[in-house]
Amino acid sequence: MRVLITGSAGFIGSHTCVELLENGIQIVGMDNFVNSSPEAVKAVSKITGKEYPFYDCDMLDEGAFEKIFQENSIDAVIHFAGLKAVGESVQKPLEYYHNNIQGTLNLLRLMRKYKVYKLVFSSSATVYGMNNPIPYREDMPIGGTTNPYGSTKFFIETILQDLAKAEPEWKIALLRYFNPVGAHASGLIGENPKGIPNNLMPYISRVAEGTLEKLHVYGGDYDTPDGTGVRDYIHVCDLAAGHLKALEKLDDIQGARAWNLGTGKGISVLEVVHAFEKASGRPIPYSIDPRRPGDLPAFYADASRAKEELNWEAKLSLETMCRDAWNFIVKSQESQ
Ligand code: WQD
Repeated sequence: MRVLITGSAGFIGSHTCVELLENGIQIVGMDNFVNSSPEAVKAVSKITGKEYPFYDCDMLDEGAFEKIFQENSIDAVIHFAGLKAVGESVQKPLEYYHNNIQGTLNLLRLMRKYKVYKLVFSSSATVYGMNNPIPYREDMPIGGTTNPYGSTKFFIETILQDLAKAEPEWKIALLRYFNPVGAHASGLIGENPKGIPNNLMPYISRVAEGTLEKLHVYGGDYDTPDGTGVRDYIHVCDLAAGHLKALEKLDDIQGARAWNLGTGKGISVLEVVHAFEKASGRPIPYSIDPRRPGDLPAFYADASRAKEELNWEAKLSLETMCRDAWNFIVKSQESQ
């Protein structure tokens, strides 16, 4: 089987490339490096000892995008490519809707033209919106999203559901991620956002390495055990394994089906801080600041459907997530 991976140089994309290559699956990589680096393309080969075709290509460039399908016999696609910063999406909604939705439509039209009907889509727990009780279950209504980034994921899931209803050839997995963190044990790939990180774990990593002064904890007065926000953090390598399981499941399904990829456990901001201090041996100074607009107090997954239907569950602990995230920073510093 040969799988096209859009966004293959990204945080989750690169880890999924490793997982597929290590399981004997041929891949074709593609990325425009808007939020990733060519280093990750090489690092995947270094980790696995395997080379693979890679295209520096923007999914909005239809000609370049079609070339990938003309030059490679693609059997399935894992679609990661997309802009994904919640805060930035509020400032730049038109760019987010154009890039994420038009890019996906370009992909789907090419897949249909080249008779490729197997798709794993990188969705997000954000699609559950503000109105669902926790833990989130896949049969809950989606929508009510609170930012353009989350809305693009909701709209694309809706497009995929409608497409699968109209054209029975499609086999589509909608993978709803919770909070991916950590890095490959080699320290050669990991989460390395450009600029000041929006997300908790990369921000803490920068405080630990001394490039940011302290962590600003957004809210200490939530109705949670220690007053800080609660999320379902999942190791990126567990997440990558979930993509392989979903890919293998596609032969057994018709249409589009959602699976939560989470641990099913809620962990608070301060629990992450303390675990990271233990894993890195570095203090993480912080202040309790006002809540971040749009944040929910707590959400985490009901992960039972993936366990039952994909024979997949998250295995790696918060301690391992922090240890691997810190190891990636240390290795990155050593290579500079
Ligand atoms: C986690 C917790 C913050 C930063 C978003 C997207 C989701 C996915 C992951 C792409 C919250 C707190 C954070 C900081 C803090 N993205 N926090 N100080 O908002 O749960 O999810 O990113 O797929 O789709 O919605 O992740 O890491 O930003 O926040 O206190 O500097 O950490 O308030 O409680 P979030 P996050």
